[in-house]
Amino acid sequence: MLVGTQFGDEGKGKLVDYLSDKYDIVVRYQGGANAGHTICFDNKTVVLHLIPSGIFNKDCVCVIGNGVVIDPNALLEEIQKVEELGYDVRGRLFISHNAHLIMPYHKLLDSLSESSLSGEQKIGTTGRGIGPSYEDKFARCGIRVVDLLNQKVLEEKLRDNIAVKNKLFRNIYDKEEVDVDAMVREYSEFDKIIDPFVTNTQLYLNRQIKAGKTVLLEGAQGCLLDVDHGTYPYVTSSNPTSGGACTGSGVAPNHIGKVIGVCKAYTTRVGNGAFPTELEDEVGEALGRIGHEYGATTGRKRRCGWIDLVALRYSLTISGVTELALTKLDVLDTFEEIKVCTAYLLDGKEIHDFPTEHQTLSRVTPVYLTLKGWMASNANAKSFAQMHENARNYVTFLEEALDVPVTFISVGPGRDETVFK
Ligand code: GDP
Ligand code: IMO
Ligand code: MG
Repeated sequence: MLVGTQFGDEGKGKLVDYLSDKYDIVVRYQGGANAGHTICFDNKTVVLHLIPSGIFNKDCVCVIGNGVVIDPNALLEEIQKVEELGYDVRGRLFISHNAHLIMPYHKLLDSLSESSLSGEQKIGTTGRGIGPSYEDKFARCGIRVVDLLNQKVLEEKLRDNIAVKNKLFRNIYDKEEVDVDAMVREYSEFDKIIDPFVTNTQLYLNRQIKAGKTVLLEGAQGCLLDVDHGTYPYVTSSNPTSGGACTGSGVAPNHIGKVIGVCKAYTTRVGNGAFPTELEDEVGEALGRIGHEYGATTGRKRRCGWIDLVALRYSLTISGVTELALTKLDVLDTFEEIKVCTAYLLDGKEIHDFPTEHQTLSRVTPVYLTLKGWMASNANAKSFAQMHENARNYVTFLEEALDVPVTFISVGPGRDETVFK
């Protein structure tokens, strides 16, 4: 499996696309269209939000697992986008019948609840309806993909749900009610379109595994945005960490082999919440400018800072990361000095354990170690040995400090800009 180890946007899409020719099946297991996974190939840049990043490998089957929340309109738009690029998805894209849907009222509630919060309290969500859809899932009133295939059930569930939501819109938010008949009509249209893709994916995946097929589970977001393990409440509403891959796909833990953690050579965060190594100066500005750090889903400017080993040690432990893919090393090519956060200072004392409680995390200051930059490009390096000595030292330092091997080094957004260590 492959997971994000920071605050998302580590370059998971690039890595999954790169690795997908070694796997038979790629599975998204959580999140929804809040994700933006960028893939660059054949002079094209494509951002995927729901479809797994193996779709541009024609031999790879892609599965949207039960743990994902799906906005049917966003999904159909994305299917069309992929097909327009010349990639047929029929027969190689399967959607879990158990995945929950994101309805228009979820998106509305997402934006209303954000706007009812003041300043610092705002999460800074992507506005894709993720939280409200997972709320309904766990409140056991959610509408699932399979419900789209049964008009009667769909209508009943929509009417029940909208009756409750309309009370919220009317009485709490002072907004217009949702037109239930229009929504019943709109969503009844999805049955025939979505039917060919709907599968019992848990069963499918386990049969394929038994038949010897290889599966890559693709995480969205990152460990520090995990609802249980991240910087709560400034998190997403699912489990991007490795545990979430099992519940979100129906693949049991004993089938999991390696856990590839994707990690940027520095840190970025989009949305609110504590970020100990954030740089609100010209260095942070330079990281953002050189790294083109704008959200792939919302276009928002990403906050930037140095790499954070306290946070990484924590997220590698939580996900049981067995190897690291280090991305965007090229963004550091022009920095004379590179800083690495090795500990935090809290009330004058050095701490090494990551505090997941917001009030504490927002009070820590980073302790940095400064390493020499390489002031050179590694774009032509075909192997680790061909990389600049100082770049190799940076990688080796991270391996030793995190006690995990770095197996891939990404030095550009393209498929071939990857060094296998
Ligand atoms: P994801 O959400 O983890 O898939 O990451 P995003 O796609 O949101 O953000 C990563 C961004 O960095 C995308 O624009 C990628 O094209 C780009 N990218 C990925 N790897 C590299 C790299 O090694 N170097 C550079 N310069 N860009 C990269
Ligand atoms: P990928 O898969 C970066 C952030 C949002 C916000 C918080 C909650 O591309 O790495 P949500 O809409 O999920 O309720 O927002 O999580 N967030 C992401 N940040 N990358 C992502 O996905 C993200 N998905 C959500 O910015 O802070
Ligand atoms: Mg992204």
